[in-house]
Amino acid sequence: MNAFLFLATTPVPRDLALPLPLPEGLLKALLVLFFLVHILFVNLTVGGSLLVAIFEFLGFKNKKYDALALELAKTVTVNKSLAVVMGIGPLLCINLVYTVQWYGANALTGHAWLIIIPLITAAFLLAYLHKYTWHRWETGTAKKFHWAIVLTSTLLFLCIPFVFLANVNLMLFPSEWDKVKGFFSSLKIGNVFPRYLHFLLASIALTGLAGAGWFWRKIVVDHLDNGMSREQLRRLFYRIAAWATGLQFIAGPILLFTLPGVGVTPLLYKIILPSAALGLVLFLFLLKKSKGPEENLQHGYVGLCVFFSIVVLGMGSGRHAYREAALASHQQQVRERSAAYESSLAAWNTANPPSDEAEETPEQLFATCAACHAPDAKLVGPSLREIATIYAGNPDGIVTWATAPGKKRPDFPPMPPFAHLGPDKLRVISEFILATAPK
Ligand code: HEC
Repeated sequence: MNAFLFLATTPVPRDLALPLPLPEGLLKALLVLFFLVHILFVNLTVGGSLLVAIFEFLGFKNKKYDALALELAKTVTVNKSLAVVMGIGPLLCINLVYTVQWYGANALTGHAWLIIIPLITAAFLLAYLHKYTWHRWETGTAKKFHWAIVLTSTLLFLCIPFVFLANVNLMLFPSEWDKVKGFFSSLKIGNVFPRYLHFLLASIALTGLAGAGWFWRKIVVDHLDNGMSREQLRRLFYRIAAWATGLQFIAGPILLFTLPGVGVTPLLYKIILPSAALGLVLFLFLLKKSKGPEENLQHGYVGLCVFFSIVVLGMGSGRHAYREAALASHQQQVRERSAAYESSLAAWNTANPPSDEAEETPEQLFATCAACHAPDAKLVGPSLREIATIYAGNPDGIVTWATAPGKKRPDFPPMPPFAHLGPDKLRVISEFILATAPK
């Protein structure tokens, strides 16, 4: 039975309209919001892991950094779990709104995309191994090995967002997809590397800001007990945040000016430039805090966090504005294709109204037998020519046989019964066989 006949007789609905479960605008707003929450924890995981590796290294010379590395390492495993859980929201939204572009990019980067799963697993397990062996592998070679573990997991943590980023970047440029032959060639499209640099600095800046809050808490400082005061700790983390934010003023313009023109619009500048100006103010504040007198460190933390959030929200919205503009023409083409498909399907449906099973043609009904009976050759059962000789002028004889086949030919397997088709259909089939069998 060919596919269209099947479609005409099947009771299943013949075309599946798949509307979005929520209004498109709402899904896009949720995408930006969910993504920012996710990336917050990704930043803390990547930035945290990097700082742990650095502090533990400094700890070889100065023990106070070693203690600091341990306290920070404890937050990394928590943040990485939150990053994964919070990654579900944006993934669902992006699947819904940018299905074609997103899956297109996933498929094109093939192996690298799939490798994310083992990479994440390995990075997580190493992060736990690192945390739980802290006191067991504390001296000599064991300590060096211990440091090598965090170095490895940090490298993995750095690779994972890179693969993600390559995908997110690639999905923006469908017109370039024909040039892509796997992951590495996908890196030549768009501007993956400046984006990655921007992401890395954001990770460090955010971890710095979070550290300035976390290590201000008395209970954490008491537990840390490495001789550093909460003022010293806050100053250290503010300084980290300040320098990472400052370097964004090199990375940011590189990113902006290497963006392919396709998504660059006045709207993008209207969002990015004020956000960058706020970022500059933020940088100066952070710098001032990290250099100024100790009393200055007491206050203003929450304000800085709010400031930081506004900058991040601006950058996130700018990112979305770029994506929208870059994909506008492709989205439009996809919409036109879908509309063309829907109208041709509708035309076909009108020309071929659904029919119920009783209206199946004799030929369609005979399809059940055709697997074993060919017109003029032995298949599983005897040929139609042979059957027509035995049952010439006796269609009811075929009905009786097919309802409860006997065992006749010693060199043939037994035929299964077809009683479930009922005498009417079997009669139609029998007449069809007698009429069409070669004489
Ligand atoms: C799974 C394979 C298979 C299917 C499907 C099948 N048959 Fe058969 N058929 C056989 C085999 C095997 C024999 C020979 C059995 C024997 O001689 O013992 C046979 C024999 C026959 C014969 C010859 C009986 C005789 O008296 O010699 C008829 C008539 C027949 N089938 C009709 C049908 C019809 C009608 C259908 C569809 C409703 C059908 N068959 C579907 C395998 C099949």
